[in-house]
Amino acid sequence: MTAHRDPLRVGVLASGRGSNLQALLDATRGADFPARVVIVISDRERAEALERAAAAGVGAQFFDPKAYGDRAASDMALLACLESHRVELVCLAGFMRILSPGFVLSLHGRLVNIHPSLLPAFPGLHAQRQALDHGAKVAGVTVHFVDDGVDTGPIIAQASVPVRDDDTEASLSARILVEEHRLFPEVVRLFAERRLRLVGRRVEVSR
Ligand code: GRF
Repeated sequence: MTAHRDPLRVGVLASGRGSNLQALLDATRGADFPARVVIVISDRERAEALERAAAAGVGAQFFDPKAYGDRAASDMALLACLESHRVELVCLAGFMRILSPGFVLSLHGRLVNIHPSLLPAFPGLHAQRQALDHGAKVAGVTVHFVDDGVDTGPIIAQASVPVRDDDTEASLSARILVEEHRLFPEVVRLFAERRLRLVGRRVEVSR
């Protein structure tokens, strides 16, 4: 007999629209999915992500970074909030704040981000526009563990899409987003099934 495991407890941090959050909520709702989103936190009070969480019956919390003295203090409060929900994996899904080294270290190997480019190309803001400006012929999405840098952490998974001659930032973003919504839940599943881990800076995946 295989030992039964409780679903992995996932916390999601999101600042805006929340379409990746929605993909995670939809995937984790499945009875056989080995993870559940237990809390969604946003640094923007009116983020659509908070509405999506509430609509799914998941805890939704506005976290005001300005209520604390500095970034280190606000990040420690954010960490305490995640820990109070006994979160085992934290997904950054369009979270627009840069997190302090202390926060990142505390969640080493348990903090993942999704970025709309094939990293290490085009980190930071407006990745899709950067790809178009460079004349890239292939674009895509990366899910990676978070380290101290911006979009520099060890890569877990990627998916590519073609760039078309007549692409606009909007059309390319939409094509990438389809892959984002597929890839992020896939990575959460891998982690929940204990098939994904970070050893130093090396990502180990057992298929
Ligand atoms: C996505 O493109 C994600 O890759 C990036 O920010 C965007 C968030 O979109 N980090 P949404 O809020 O998930 O719709």
